[in-house]
Amino acid sequence: MTENLISVSYLGAAALFILALGGLKNNESARRGNLYGMIGMTIAVLVTVMAFVTKNYSTLIIVMVGGGALGFVLSRRVQMTQMPELVAILHSLVGLAAVLIGYANFLDTSIHYNGVERTIHDIEVFISIGIGAMTFSGSIVAYGKLGGMIGGQPMLLPARHWLNLAMLVAVVIVGIQFVSAVNHAEAQTMLLIMTVITLVFGIHMVAAIGGADMPVVISMLNSYSGWAAAATGFMLSNDLLIVTGALVGSSGAILSYIMCRAMNRNFISVIAGGFGTATSSSSAAAGGDQGDVTTIDIAETAQLLKSAKQVMVVPGYGMAMAQAQHAISDIAKSLIEKGVNVRFGIHPVAGRMPGHMNVLLAEAKVPYDIVFEMDEVNDDFPNIDVSIIIGANDTVNPSALDDESSPIAGMPVLEVWKGEITIVLKRGMAAGYAGVDNPLFVKENTRMLFGDAKESLDQLYKGL
Ligand code: TAP
Repeated sequence: MTENLISVSYLGAAALFILALGGLKNNESARRGNLYGMIGMTIAVLVTVMAFVTKNYSTLIIVMVGGGALGFVLSRRVQMTQMPELVAILHSLVGLAAVLIGYANFLDTSIHYNGVERTIHDIEVFISIGIGAMTFSGSIVAYGKLGGMIGGQPMLLPARHWLNLAMLVAVVIVGIQFVSAVNHAEAQTMLLIMTVITLVFGIHMVAAIGGADMPVVISMLNSYSGWAAAATGFMLSNDLLIVTGALVGSSGAILSYIMCRAMNRNFISVIAGGFGTATSSSSAAAGGDQGDVTTIDIAETAQLLKSAKQVMVVPGYGMAMAQAQHAISDIAKSLIEKGVNVRFGIHPVAGRMPGHMNVLLAEAKVPYDIVFEMDEVNDDFPNIDVSIIIGANDTVNPSALDDESSPIAGMPVLEVWKGEITIVLKRGMAAGYAGVDNPLFVKENTRMLFGDAKESLDQLYKGL
């Protein structure tokens, strides 16, 4: 394959990746965006194989077919509720790939560089392995936290900021010794030491972040995985990998920033960990006596909805768990036919991944024009007759606004309690992801409709 053909193909693939990101901007164009991404990746893989692989084709084919088949089976099996874990584990694989490629490159004795070129190459190897290791271990911890295998509470070691700083300084010192090592063995020792430190750093960084701040961590690891790929691209002198890695890295960074703004968090403070430190002493921490709740049954709920003019549906993680999106979609359509103004209010971190609720509602064919962002509807609650909260908890918790000691203090929430009546669908009084009690449930104008959200909504549909 000629140099020119490789460059043109890579340029085409990079353009398709940019179009893919542009397509993911909104629901209508998301499918098209995915298609661009798939075509771009197919071109990238084919051209790379044809241009650079000169031997061991059979090994490559076995690995690609095996990996592809595994990915295909897993993606078909994965439940919508497990998507965040899947994303986290995929990030860990990108990190692991960067580490392995870095070591393979370092151990490859056929690669010879001298002078400045060697120093630059060494730095590329070092950075690629470092970011890769941090992404790998951090993503594994995130996977555990999101899947409930590791508790959501932040692990706050004493002097944790000093510990982070010490690890950072150690990495820089080891890096200098790596670059100036007199022989391969010494360099290898330095590389191994750095790998261990960055693995520990990744674990510590994610473990220190409290449950409610996990959305930022996911997008941050997404960003790291991109930079790890970009660093690998520099190491391999592969332009497409540099561009693709930079695209993922910068879009992940922008998403982290958006998440932080949505949750009223300071990015640096989230990364440094420690939000939610007041959990143990906070009056908002889950487990206390929450007071008396007022329950409601299906018939009464149906009656309220039939006589309402303005209805706001607020979905949360429980809707995903119950797979209740189709049931609420049917109810919304039937109410709209009866002349009720039905809207959906979506909190930016509802569910367990960015856009989680939007994906589910799109799957259930809820029209896009009745689905609104939190900021678009939050001022409207005083005009709402009935709000239906489907398995949302932290994202409608008033203590975020009025209890400074709450682990979620400062996070903007959907102010549903300002409406006339709020009906909360959940199975019991369990806390949400952040592990804090929710005073909404005991408010005078709140009614609890206990049970699995899908079962309740199916009955409600019949009742309507
Ligand atoms: P959560 O606060 O997690 O609450 C979900 C509620 O759903 C639970 O209280 C649970 O109560 C209920 N539930 C579970 N299964 C149910 C079922 N089958 N039927 C009815 N209810 C059910 O949800 P949220 O308001 O969406 O908040 C999201 C939280 O996750 C935030 O703290 C956010 O920071 C965090 N987080 C978000 C992301 C992203 S990017 N979106 C990523 C990681 C973490 P019962 O058990 O009593 O039914």
